Amino acid sequence: MADFLAGKVIAVTGAGRGIGRAVAIGCAAEGASVVVNDYGVAIDGREPSSAVAEAVAEEIRDAGGQAVPCADSVTTMAGGTRIVQTAVDAYGRLDGVVCVAGILRERMLFNMAEDEWDPVIETHLKGTFTVFRAASALMRKSGGGALVGFTSGNHAGSVSQANYSAAKGGVVSLVRSAALGLGKYGITANAVAPVARTRMSANVPFDMAEMGEPEDVAPLVAYLLSDAARDVTGQIYTVAGRRIAVWNQPQEIRSMYGEEPWTAEAIAKRLPEAVGVETMPMIAKLAAYAKATEERKAAEGAERAGESGATAGTEAQSGRADGAVTP
Ligand SMILES: NC(=O)c1ccc[n+]([C@@H]2O[C@H](COP(=O)([O-])OP(=O)(O)OC[C@H]3O[C@@H](n4cnc5c(N)ncnc54)[C@H](O)[C@@H]3O)[C@@H](O)[C@H]2O)c1
Repeated sequence: MADFLAGKVIAVTGAGRGIGRAVAIGCAAEGASVVVNDYGVAIDGREPSSAVAEAVAEEIRDAGGQAVPCADSVTTMAGGTRIVQTAVDAYGRLDGVVCVAGILRERMLFNMAEDEWDPVIETHLKGTFTVFRAASALMRKSGGGALVGFTSGNHAGSVSQANYSAAKGGVVSLVRSAALGLGKYGITANAVAPVARTRMSANVPFDMAEMGEPEDVAPLVAYLLSDAARDVTGQIYTVAGRRIAVWNQPQEIRSMYGEEPWTAEAIAKRLPEAVGVETMPMIAKLAAYAKATEERKAAEGAERAGESGATAGTEAQSGRADGAVTP
């Protein structure tokens, strides 16, 4: 047992599987008492089971740590409140919350149904709000604490997960707002964008060069929850295996002023040169992924044709080169 979080009480949502589980176990190993929250659902958010949270809490206790389970859903205000109250009831305080819970309902935007949009937004974005809301009300009175949200590199855009991308962009803005509004109460707010091998990332349609393990994510979260990160707020950190990176803060970079009120025609004349456009990195990435997939499939096809004497190429066109970049 290490002691980087000794004496702290931390609630982790989505802590029954994948990254949340590794974070809960990692925090307990650093000396924290942990609320293990998980609704115990399938990847699409259906079929809840309380056994999932209980199993991880037991695993932590068996290893000599402190943990209590909580099987509430983060999607309701009552759920968020109960997760926080579980910490207070069991350990008398709350020093940090980590909102990891998430689901996927993947669909191209033009086919996406309301029941694919709403639950994804409710779990990731509202599910971060419900817990931040209840935790920050308590932390404001107790003199401070740490809020950690979970976003994704895909907050910058996704081909077939507009719901997920929008929710993760929302988490980034929520975290920045929390950092802005709660700093004077001693509360920090940061977000983590992980890349780790879990059921959620299992169907990524291309090789992710930097895929790490859930256990690689836990130390960064423990740092953000610790006293060593008291002055770190409003930040978005990627963690992928052994790589940790910080995201920039968006701001205006070029502007133009009109000598009189703008007309569409006047804008069309001046904007391209005076303000222009900014390259969207995800579009460039998508093109690179599609090209790499085509090349790989063509090479595989050629190899197979060489082996069997069959005609190569048809499969190369059928591959999913839509760059879903899940999750
Ligand atoms: N795995 C990756 O590479 C990756 C990449 C980017 C972002 N993320 C984000 O990291 C987080 C964890 O992802 P993961 O890969 O470990 O997924 P996972 O599916 O392994 O775990 C998610 C957990 O959240 C729980 N959950 C779902 N809905 C809930 C609810 N309403 N209330 C409480 N718990 C609920 C599930 O039961 C599950 O145990 C997610 O927010 C995900 O979007 C993951």
